[in-house]
Amino acid sequence: MYNNNETILSSKSFGIKGSLNVPSDKSISHRALILGSLAVGKTYIKGLLESEDIFKTLEALKALGVDIYKEKKYWIVHGVGIGGFCEPDNVIDCGNSGTTVRLLMGIISTCPIKATLTGDGSLRKRPMDRIVKPLSQFGAVFSTNFDYKLPINIIGTSDPLPINYDLKVPSAQVKSSILLAGLNVKGRTTVIENEPTRDHTEKMLKSFGADIEIVKKGLSNYISVVGFPCMKPNEISVPGDISSAAFPIALACIIPNSEIKIKNVGLNPLRDGFIKTLIEMGANIKIKNKHLQAGELVADLIVYYTPNLKGVEVPSERSAKMIDEYPILSIIAATAQGSTIMKGIQELRFKESDRIQAIADGLEKNGVEISQKKDELIVYGKGNQKIIGGSVIEAFNDHRIAMSFASLGSISEKSIEIRGAASIKTSFPNFVDLMNSLGLDIKVKSL
Ligand code: S3P
Repeated sequence: MYNNNETILSSKSFGIKGSLNVPSDKSISHRALILGSLAVGKTYIKGLLESEDIFKTLEALKALGVDIYKEKKYWIVHGVGIGGFCEPDNVIDCGNSGTTVRLLMGIISTCPIKATLTGDGSLRKRPMDRIVKPLSQFGAVFSTNFDYKLPINIIGTSDPLPINYDLKVPSAQVKSSILLAGLNVKGRTTVIENEPTRDHTEKMLKSFGADIEIVKKGLSNYISVVGFPCMKPNEISVPGDISSAAFPIALACIIPNSEIKIKNVGLNPLRDGFIKTLIEMGANIKIKNKHLQAGELVADLIVYYTPNLKGVEVPSERSAKMIDEYPILSIIAATAQGSTIMKGIQELRFKESDRIQAIADGLEKNGVEISQKKDELIVYGKGNQKIIGGSVIEAFNDHRIAMSFASLGSISEKSIEIRGAASIKTSFPNFVDLMNSLGLDIKVKSL
């Protein structure tokens, strides 16, 4: 539906209504494919996210010798076992996907194979030192240009040593990469996490039978794996992605006359910061039918329009629990009464774009005042004043920026045009059709 230069035009909506499912969880989908590859035998994945980022992981695993195919509603991964990868005969292109490249670097680094990884213009700008440094300690050799950016050549080690690594940045990708590398190493590899991040890897490793231990010491988690576990194949059903659900949730909160039900959304306690924040702002959200699916908490969400949401302070301790939701939270904040202060969000500068800057530029263009510091953003809500709109926004190859400003267009007086909307395919391929079916007015224009 999208092409590379795609532009979308989002115009005022008069309410969204309906019952929907959002695309499956991206983080869990990457991990299901990767852990399935490390088990011996067939892993069945139901509800795998079929988006560009996930297809990058899938193609990369195929290039490493794993057979993956679809049969009816299941994706089947014929795992090769820990250490069973073969050397790819071409450069692996990870596209726009940070999770693909960082998790792959983990599994390759402790295998005696060589590989070259690269990505699109956005991924080639993102920091990889956070991953190269710990993985080098296993004995893998990396060659990159001087500032640790892609493309990167990896020479995996045949004789890896276990490591203890104190995470320097709160990152589930870095944590997961080290744990996955540790599976092919004799002895115990430990990651010390001082700020908890999403724990899908830990939960899934447990369900595949890996030897994983999590010990709390003060405010830190010591997460360790013992190498060469017997990973048994699994059956995984992937829940809906809270990070994708965040868009219809936000729209229902801010567009008058809205009421929606989103079924089967993952509510992992390490990813529920957005819902907590909205409830503090006064949003009317009901959580029903809580249950466990593939070891993950899942529920249905019913969201009603709430007039007069109020601005809040979002504490730094919450940032890892809603790291991908700040762009859409900023749009809600623009409509709220009073200011919303988002603290401790420096990691947003290293996502698919510098998200603090992209949000700031986009909101200012639409008449919303903001102020920013290196690790903080304040959005001064317009309250009962109208948002003018009428701007052209550059999404910088960043799906969440594109979807956030498409959301702003639906409550602005004049339409908002978003350039670079093809990036939406990386996580939410049916965004435009699904949102229009609920009551948005988004038109796809090509340049
Ligand atoms: C992800 C972790 C987060 C998140 C990204 C997905 C994951 O990145 O922003 O969208 O699947 O592990 P960091 O680990 O860089 O915080």
